Formats: sequence, C-alpha cells, structure tokens
Amino acid sequence: MIDTPPRLDGVDLHALAAQVGTPTYVYSASAIRDRIQALQHALKGLDTRVCYAVKANANLAVLQLMAEQGVGADIVSVGELRRALRAGIPASRIVYSGVGKTADEIAEAIGMGVWRYNVESHDELRTLQAVAAGRGATVRASARINPDVDAGTHAKISTGKSENKFGVSIDEARHWFAEAAQYPNVRLDGLHAHIGSQILSIKPFRLALQRVAAFARELAGQGRELNCIDVGGGLGVRYRQDQAPPLTPDQYAAMLRETFADFHGRLILEPGRYLVAEAGWLLTRVIRVKPGQQRAFLVVDAAMNDLLRPALYDAWHDIVPLHGRDAETVEYDVVGPVCETGDTFAVRRPMPACRAGDLIAIAGAGAYGAAMASTYNSRPLPAEVLLDRDRYAVVRRRQDYDAMIADECPVQEWSTA
Ligand code: LLP
Repeated sequence: MIDTPPRLDGVDLHALAAQVGTPTYVYSASAIRDRIQALQHALKGLDTRVCYAVKANANLAVLQLMAEQGVGADIVSVGELRRALRAGIPASRIVYSGVGKTADEIAEAIGMGVWRYNVESHDELRTLQAVAAGRGATVRASARINPDVDAGTHAKISTGKSENKFGVSIDEARHWFAEAAQYPNVRLDGLHAHIGSQILSIKPFRLALQRVAAFARELAGQGRELNCIDVGGGLGVRYRQDQAPPLTPDQYAAMLRETFADFHGRLILEPGRYLVAEAGWLLTRVIRVKPGQQRAFLVVDAAMNDLLRPALYDAWHDIVPLHGRDAETVEYDVVGPVCETGDTFAVRRPMPACRAGDLIAIAGAGAYGAAMASTYNSRPLPAEVLLDRDRYAVVRRRQDYDAMIADECPVQEWSTA
C-alpha cells in the first residue's frame, strides 16, 4: 500500500517522480518478498517448486528477487529463458510452456539444460523427441492437459476450455503415455494444467485439478507413477481496495493438499500475477484537466501503450491521486494522450479533484503492465524502478528517442530474396 504522505517501501514518491520523471513503474521489493513468503509458508509440508511465470513481469531486477528467494521460472520463449538465466535463476529450476515452441527454441533450451517441458501437442512431442535425439540428450516432459473447465475469468485470459488452443484432451494424452516408448529421448513423467488467469474462486481450480489427479491415478494404476504435476498459475489478486480480498494462498494450498492427497510426486506452481501485481504501481502526472461536453477528462502522461489492461480487458485499476490536498470528490474519465478512445484508464471514476501537474498512482500495475508496454504513438517505453526499504534503483531507464528508433532505417539499398 501507499502510505500518507505518499511513500512506497519507505520511498517518497513525489521526490522519486521528480528525479526519474513520469510515467514510471515502481515495484516494492518488500511486497514481492512478502508474497513469495506467504505462498511458500502456505505450501509448507508439500513437495513443491514455485516457478514464477516470467511473462507477468520480466524485468531482470524482479527476476533477480525471485532467484534470491529460491523461486524458479516458467518461461514461454527463448527471450524469457535468457532473461531468467541472466537474472540468476538456474536452468534446473526452469519449466518451458507454450503452444508454439520451435525446434530452434527447443534446441537452445536443451543446450541450456532447462529442467522440464510442458508439451502442448503431438507435433511438439515429436519435435522434442527429434531435437533431443539429435543432441544426444534426454529431456523431462509433462503433457499439458486441457481439462475443459471454465475458469470464470475474462474470455481473453481463459485457457482451459476445450475450444482454447492450449493443451490436449486427457484422451489424447492417454495415447501419448501408451506410446511413450516411441519417444526414447523424452521422459514423459508429468502432467500440466493451467486454466486461466485472475481466477477468484477455488472451484474451477478444484474441478480442473481433480480431473488431472484422476488421470494421474489412472496412469499410476498402469505402473506409470508420475514425478511431477504442474498446476499452473492463475491465482487472482485484488484490483479494488473496496472489494474483499480474493483467494488466499492458504485456501489454495488446502485445495492442493486435498486434491493430491494420494499423489507422491512434486507439485509445480506457476504463479505470475499473485507474486507481483499488487507490488507495482504506475506513477503518472496530470497533463491537464479537460472539461468535455459530457464528462471531465483527466488527461495523464501515461497511456494505453504503457498499461494496456484497461483498453484490452476493460480491467479495473484503482487510481490514487497523491496530491494530499483536501479536495471535493469529482468524477473523471482518466485518459492518456494516445489517439484512441480505448486509451482510457477509468470511466466516470469518483476521485479527489486534481490539477495539472498532480502526481497520480495507478494500482495493481506490477503484473502485465510494463511487460505488455509498447511504443505505440511513438511513445518511448516507461522507466521501471525497484524500491526496497527506503532506497530505490532504476531497473529500466526510460527509453530515449534514439533508442526507440535505433533498429530502424530509411531504405539505403534494396536486396532480392
Ligand atoms: N502458466 C501459464 C502456462 C500461463 O499461460 C500463465 C499466464 C501463467 C502460468 C501465469 O498466470 P497468472 O498466475 O499470472 O495468472 N495479460 C493478461 C494475463 C495473461 C496470462 C497469460 N498466461 C492480463 O493482463 O490479465
């Protein structure tokens, strides 16, 4: 939480914004550590490995915090692999997920010694076998099951229904295990399921994982004892302070204990949002207050290119003015400078009246914020700052205009292919 006067992790946000400018993402290292510890505490006594879903926030400093706490990584690209390794997460704690792994990517991951592969199609299984055989390696793999469960979350972040592109049916996975001898370089000894993100009730998790657990029992009955079950990520977080906190790690862990009571292998967890979302804020400054014909617009210097979630998912983020003045409550549409109506952080949001120059903090921005930023409208990528007990470090400097266009050039010569 931001204290009054506005401090986060002991750092004065006004002074910080004056030094690094806006828009800037700020992350509290203490809050991230607290989340990791809360989860690890809840999981005590269970044989688990937590592999942070790098996609949520791939900043090297955030990954470094994960490494320091013994957390591994769930990756979906070679780019994420390189980041995780660079930040000090050992390959032996990295699981590789995703429907579109190419042979080249698999080869690089094998070369780096990635721990496990979550396999999402028959073709991928054959590719994994071929690449591993070509390198004289044996790799460990889990079959990603699509349990056909509705996660009850936004359609664009649901992944566990049969119409989604992720995973395979239990029926198909059954065939993979039956023909495992055809894949001598793949030790298929695990299952994986991830049904979606920002899940706020235990029910869909329980339903999906019961299906996975039943399949694991079936395989064990045939003498195929599994080593690992990867239960994915998806734990929801609180985006509105005026609403009850969602699922707790204790409730989640209790569900795992119950569902996997008779499973003797290791459980892998892939939380992303839970570990970082509420630890991050997007600091932005009011450019001007524009009285519209029907609404008052608060035009801020952050935009949809910096934080896409409201435009893409109609996602709610709390918005907190940090001016500290006594001010009447007014309703604003909080908008950015990008030339799209969708560049709107909030509609008719009641908040203390603001003026040009005021500093504002957008909450819940630690996950899928900077990670999904772009330079749309030729706006350079925002800065990112890690805060830790009264100190701060700029962990991504604001992109400058030259860097933004550095990889482009006007045509100098034409080639033929
Ligand atoms: N594991 C797999 C295989 C995933 O696909 C994901 C997220 C996770 C773990 C982590 O899920 P989490 O614990 O963060 O819910 N951009 C969207 C979220 C997309 C999530 C994609 N996959 C958003 O801003 O809400």
